[in-house]
Amino acid sequence: MSRFLAITAVRDFEGRVRQAITGALHGDLQTLPPEAIAGSPADILQHTAGAAPEVLLLGPGINPEEALKLAVLFDLQYPEISLVLVTPTSPELVLAAMRAGVRDVVSPEINVNDLRILLERCCTAASSRRRGMSMATAPDQESGRVIAVMSPKGGVGKTTVATNLAIGLAKLAPMGVVLVDLDLQFGDVATGLQLEPEHSITQAVHGAAAQDSMVLKAFLTVHPAGVYALCAPRTPAESDYITADHVTQLLTQLASQFQYVVVDTAPGLGEHCLATLEQATDGVWICGMDVPSVRGLHKCLDVLRELQLLPRNRHVVLNFADRKSGLSVQDVEATLNVPVDVVVPRSRTLPFSTNRGVPVLQSKTRDAAAKGLQKLVDRFNPSSSIQSSRKLHRRVVVA
Ligand SMILES: Nc1ncnc2c1ncn2[C@@H]1O[C@H](COP(=O)(O)OP(=O)(O)O)[C@@H](O)[C@H]1O
Ligand SMILES: [Mg+2]
Repeated sequence: MSRFLAITAVRDFEGRVRQAITGALHGDLQTLPPEAIAGSPADILQHTAGAAPEVLLLGPGINPEEALKLAVLFDLQYPEISLVLVTPTSPELVLAAMRAGVRDVVSPEINVNDLRILLERCCTAASSRRRGMSMATAPDQESGRVIAVMSPKGGVGKTTVATNLAIGLAKLAPMGVVLVDLDLQFGDVATGLQLEPEHSITQAVHGAAAQDSMVLKAFLTVHPAGVYALCAPRTPAESDYITADHVTQLLTQLASQFQYVVVDTAPGLGEHCLATLEQATDGVWICGMDVPSVRGLHKCLDVLRELQLLPRNRHVVLNFADRKSGLSVQDVEATLNVPVDVVVPRSRTLPFSTNRGVPVLQSKTRDAAAKGLQKLVDRFNPSSSIQSSRKLHRRVVVA
């Protein structure tokens, strides 16, 4: 089996890769000539012996732009393969490479020791991605969890929670998470994750993608943290062409492919939200620490209970928690008539992270808000004790 595949004609580099592998790593290296770069991933893998490689080295000696075009296709079709671009680097190139799903960019002069460490890391990443994917895509496995992040009001932190939840879950299931922006008119998942989507929900619910879940996957945008995203339409008017039935079909398809489908929604209970709730296994209810927000959520939960549209699992997040708000967590719980499960304090790091397009759970920030968000993620971890139903709705300690 060729665990390593390199597209290069630079024999000196090839020699160093062989040395790095020998004695330290299992598997061997196969090389393809630079012309191979023009082919599709399927063309390239046709030339490889046995199973698909775990690591694909693009270069040295190939045009970086062409390499990145190929990387995008590999990343979509074979996300389990770790891609390494071998070329003289520049900050712009590294950024473009990251967006294309390349795991690392290294100089052609890299020494044998560094190469060995790099290849080892790439193999570890490849196997954990494969594990995540097999959980996410096993055809006979039951559907993934559909997590609706909801609130009757805007500006209470739905997108903040949804993006952080997706990033946090991707650590449990790399490439097993998809984040769907169903705030169809003014969704900002793309900005919140610094994505430049080529396709949006509009293409995903019309045409071939609606018939075939594998085609649908090609319309998703990949975030470097191992999350797939389906972004909102480019213009608010496009939302008119997306019906509740489209949403139902889309979420069913995604749940058959992914372990976790996180849905960011528009404020209120529009038809797209109700269609989402019908499919959802989990409702993450976001409430601000102010009377209108708490009252709004109380009414919303009442209506949905009557309509029998409350998802099986409930997670109430009290966001913007602040001792000086004049309300306590107990006041909020008494009005809502349900316990608060997670408290996320008001924090300066969150608007900063929104403005940077880097969710706090993607960075090293560990303030109380990040901890609250991580606690929410932990509730979805199958191996976490917090999952147990006894603890599911335990009371929170006052923030
Ligand atoms: N706990 C918090 N503390 C401070 N700012 C927050 C907090 N949660 C969210 N924000 C900020 O509030 C703004 C609105 O949040 P957002 O997630 O877009 O709300 P929604 O999606 O519900 O409209 C964003 O700038 C976000 O960074
Ligand atoms: Mg939002």
